Amino acid sequence: MQLPDEAITFNYQSLLSQMRTDEEWKPLIELQSQHYLNPNRLKAIVPQMMQVKGQVATERELAEPPAHLKPLDSGFIDLPDKLLIDLRKNREKSELGRIQAVASRLRDQCDRILVLGIGGSYMGARALFESLRSLYHNELPFEARLGIPRFYFEGNNVDNDALQELLELFQNTCLSPDDQQERWATVVISKSGKTIETATAFRVFRKEAAELYGPKSELARNLMIPVTGPGDSPLRKLLKAEGYSDDEIFTIPDRVGGRFSIFSPVGLLPAGLMGLDIRALLQGASSITRNFLEEPFERNIVLQFAAVCHLMTEELGKNIRVMSVWSKKLEALGLWYDQLMAESLGKQGRGATPLTSVMTRDLHSRGQQFQEGKRDKLIINITVKSPKSAPVTIGMSDRNEDGLNEFSRRNYPNLMQAATLGTNTAYNDAGRPTCEIVLPTLSEYNMGQLMQMLMIATVVEGKLMGINPYGQPGVEAYKRNMLSILRSASAQDINKKNTAE
Ligand code: PA5
Repeated sequence: MQLPDEAITFNYQSLLSQMRTDEEWKPLIELQSQHYLNPNRLKAIVPQMMQVKGQVATERELAEPPAHLKPLDSGFIDLPDKLLIDLRKNREKSELGRIQAVASRLRDQCDRILVLGIGGSYMGARALFESLRSLYHNELPFEARLGIPRFYFEGNNVDNDALQELLELFQNTCLSPDDQQERWATVVISKSGKTIETATAFRVFRKEAAELYGPKSELARNLMIPVTGPGDSPLRKLLKAEGYSDDEIFTIPDRVGGRFSIFSPVGLLPAGLMGLDIRALLQGASSITRNFLEEPFERNIVLQFAAVCHLMTEELGKNIRVMSVWSKKLEALGLWYDQLMAESLGKQGRGATPLTSVMTRDLHSRGQQFQEGKRDKLIINITVKSPKSAPVTIGMSDRNEDGLNEFSRRNYPNLMQAATLGTNTAYNDAGRPTCEIVLPTLSEYNMGQLMQMLMIATVVEGKLMGINPYGQPGVEAYKRNMLSILRSASAQDINKKNTAE
């Protein structure tokens, strides 16, 4: 199967080492032979890649996974296709139909959306918001936002001042519950339904909503949309106790883990509220699933990406994986990948450390280290071929003390291309390995492709390492300690002292 023209691409030729012959010994070729990937090694791993692909494909069809495969959260792989088929068959009664209906109702009813969630329950939505909406969306006047509410993300920390500042914003700007432009709605997202950061924020904002809309008001209830796991989570129980039916709660399908849940209501409901083209997002994701399942290694970008990352980390010691995004709008996408990789592969004393860098900004902070620091990094560039907005030209000026008139006809995309090429040539000249994912443009389709590619590749990498990429057992330790500290006498004393003051 051929991907359509607007498909993302993965270029890794720049990190393959050249064949060395003793007659033409050169320091750079020597360096590259130590730090770049030997094409023969890449060729040799292809059979193993095909075998892992088969394993991932088979596991996703298991009705009841054996104990050694648990947890097995591979439901995300087929989810985009399932949702698209459900939409075609059941239209407004489908899951996407429900999501669109709630999204359009909330867009009509209010002008601010508060997304409460942490980790996989918010990072993907934030990545979509920043990449596909204006970076200044919240500052735009109502008319210029074309019916798309402003967005706020909370419930992802226990930072008193940050929380208080958001409460104050709502208290100062949302005074009249009769005015659509002064109403806010909450989307609370928690698969377990008991994550402390999200649960506490939900309690605080429920109280705030009751103050604005009135206690037990129908409006407050209509403006509060929950997304949670399929079981009887504490969040589901709480809402049911308040009279919500299961139909009013969006459910994250079984076997879809938090950081793999962007194409479930976790990401799609916020995406619908942002006015994004959900179908294009899912079509992009689905094209990658097909590419992964059907194509040979030579045309399979998921397998290529996973193989390159795996070999660079495990065999060449590139233990820092830099996601170098050449667009300010992709910083949150980079942080989403940080989480995906860290929680999936950072296990049993293994796994490269992810690091998001925004270029060209970080050339003036991390650039020095990337160029001359420890040789422990693989740099993955994410570049965007065509900007969505009209190019800004440097232009002529009567004063030329800044010496820019010679570039007057150049525009910002030209600057970005020159910076990308200049930087990567400099890395290459110093034997620093780089590869590149190219997005034709920042569109729903391309973001769907990129996110699905990175999710499946992360699973494949886990399998190659012999670790389970699903689950995050290490996160439990801090939670246990935090709860026991909160319950302890000393914490109660602190509390008493605070109340007394
Ligand atoms: O990837 C994961 O599973 C985690 O990052 C979770 O998304 C995160 O811990 C939030 O959990 P929950 O959705 O249960 O509140």
